[in-house]
This record gives sequence, C-alpha cells and structure tokens, in this order.
Amino acid sequence: MPLVFDMNDPARRGPGLREAAAALRRGALVGMPTETVYGLAADASSGAAVAAIYAAKGRPRFNPLIVHVPSLAAAQELAVFDAAATALAGAFWPGSLTLVLPRRPEAAIADIATAGLPTVALRLPAHPVTRALLEEAGVPVAAPSANRSGHVSATLAAHVLDDLGDALAVLLDAGPSPLGLESTIVAPGPSGVVLLRPGAVPRQAIAAVLGGPLGGLPAEDAAAPVSPGMLASHYAPSVPLRLGSDAVRPGESLLAFGPDLPPGAAKAVAIENLSPAGDVTEAAIRLFAALRNLDSAGAPIAAMPIPAEGLGEAINDRLRRAAAPRS
Ligand code: TXA
Ligand code: MG
Repeated sequence: MPLVFDMNDPARRGPGLREAAAALRRGALVGMPTETVYGLAADASSGAAVAAIYAAKGRPRFNPLIVHVPSLAAAQELAVFDAAATALAGAFWPGSLTLVLPRRPEAAIADIATAGLPTVALRLPAHPVTRALLEEAGVPVAAPSANRSGHVSATLAAHVLDDLGDALAVLLDAGPSPLGLESTIVAPGPSGVVLLRPGAVPRQAIAAVLGGPLGGLPAEDAAAPVSPGMLASHYAPSVPLRLGSDAVRPGESLLAFGPDLPPGAAKAVAIENLSPAGDVTEAAIRLFAALRNLDSAGAPIAAMPIPAEGLGEAINDRLRRAAAPRS
C-alpha cells in the first residue's frame, strides 16, 4: 500500500509533496490529483518508470500519454509552439487543455511515453497541489488517468487506491477532483486546430480564442475529413513487418527478442534485439527506437515471436498493427 497524504491537512502537505517528488525522481509511481481527474504519475524521461504505468494500468496497448509540466518554459523545452499553440497556452494554461505538439528531438521524454510518435501531448495543470508537485519533482511527469484499463477515470483518492493501490509508492489525496472530466485535447496543425478529445474546456471557448471553428473528430465530421496523418496517434514503420518469424529471409532485417537468434540472422540487413535477456519490460522500453532504427535501414522486418505476458501483450498489439496492410 502507498504512503497516503491528506493534502488538505496543512501539516501533511509539505511532507506529502516531498515524498511524492522523491518517488517520481527515483522512478516510482505516484497517485497525483489534478483539477480534471487523478493521474497515475511517473517520470516521463524514464522508460522504466513509464513502462511501470502501462504495467499497472493493465493497458493492452501503448496509448501515448499526456506529459505534465510546471511552466510554459518547461513545455517549450519539450515541444515546438506555433502561433495557435502559443495563443491557446496563453488563454488556457494553467488549466485543462492538452496541446499535442511536435516534440523537440532533444526533448528528455522516453519514447514509450509518446508511443514513438514525433508529437507530444502537453498540459500545464491548474490544481495547486499538481503545480507544487511538478515544481518540486523537477522532471516532466507522464500521467494517464489513474484507473485500471477499462474502468472509469478516478475522481477520488479512494478510487485510485482501489484500482492501483498496489502499484503506487505515494498517493496524494486532495479530495474530489474539482472538474471530474478529463482535459480537452487539441492538435494545432497546418490546416487549423483539430479537436482530438472533448473534455473540460468547451470547444466554443477554444474557437473564441482562435477566432474560428475547430476541425472536428473524424467521426463527428466525416464530410470534412482532416489529414489522417495529423490524427495518426500511432507510430508505424513504413517497411513491411512479418510477425512470428522463426527465420530471417534474404534481404530482411531482424527484430529480435531473447538470447537465441533464428536461422538467417547472421545475414540480416540490420538487427535490433528488444531484450537479449528475454525481458518483456525491457523490450517495451526499447520497442519504438528499435522500430525506427529498422525502418531507417529500409528492409522488410522479420519480427520474432514475443511472449504475451505482462507488457508483451501491448508489444504484440503494436507489432500486429505495424504488420497490418496499410493504404
Ligand atoms: O485530464 C486529463 O487529461 C488526465 C489528467 C491526469 O491529466 N489525463 C488523461 O490521460 O486523461 P489519458 O492517458 O487517460 O488520456 C490521454 C489521451 C489518450 O487518448 C491519448 O491517445 C492522447 O491523450 N494522446 C496523448 N499523446 C498524444 C499524441 N502525441 N497524439 C495524439 N493523441 C495523444
Ligand atoms: Mg483515461
């Protein structure tokens, strides 16, 4: 069970912030209040810490996560703000708007936090406890909603404890989430700002700042589809990928797993071993960089089988989608 701090008790607030910040810095998980919903927080710059988020949530796939920052300056170190993003941050930060922006190549964010995407979702929360924690931690904080996969978002510390108590080092209880609804997610892009997820900030308020309507979700707005590339929330290599390969064919690269390489590996165009030790968590942390490296080698990829246990389920989900025929 985690250390639980009542953040509405002045005597517990300081110790709670210090314990939670220290837990984040050492790669442990923290139950973090925000004004929208409670978050399952980890150091976004640590692949191992972010892998622990996915393991705790029992998510069968790697959805990219929102990275929480204490200031606009911290956000600008991680992503590139165009004029629309700057205007939206000026109007709604701190607050419940998440901006999906091009990630700076040098940004200290683990690949697994953005699921390998060239973009990053950023939010500067308004809740005073969240802001104090982000300041004190000094690291960018990845945090999905603090519920197990398939459950509703947690708006009370008791929900977080029920769903994820065993996985947490520290839980900061700040009472009920004031808004109780997730942040609104938008992505400024070349043809205007697109609404990716409705949430606590209404569409009309965003449109008022922009001086014009937002692009819709594809389902809501089928008559005017936005560029699918902009909405693509999943990285996929451009070269074909062959699942469950027990041999490497001539001209193929190898995505390996474990100590024993299959026949033909010696002649592979390129090899990335996700985990020579056969550890699925290590494999999850390396997955996106490995796919990118093999993608740039240009040859079709033979992917060895990966056990479905633990984070292996999410790895297999990603590989299946990378292998699926694309238009
Ligand atoms: O209010 C909130 O937003 C809460 C609190 C904790 O901040 N967080 C939250 O996170 O709801 P989560 O992981 O449950 O939802 C994040 C959403 C996902 O649907 C994900 O696909 C999307 O954000 N997302 C994250 N990064 C993205 C990216 N680079 N491109 C597109 N979508 C992204
Ligand atoms: Mg969620």
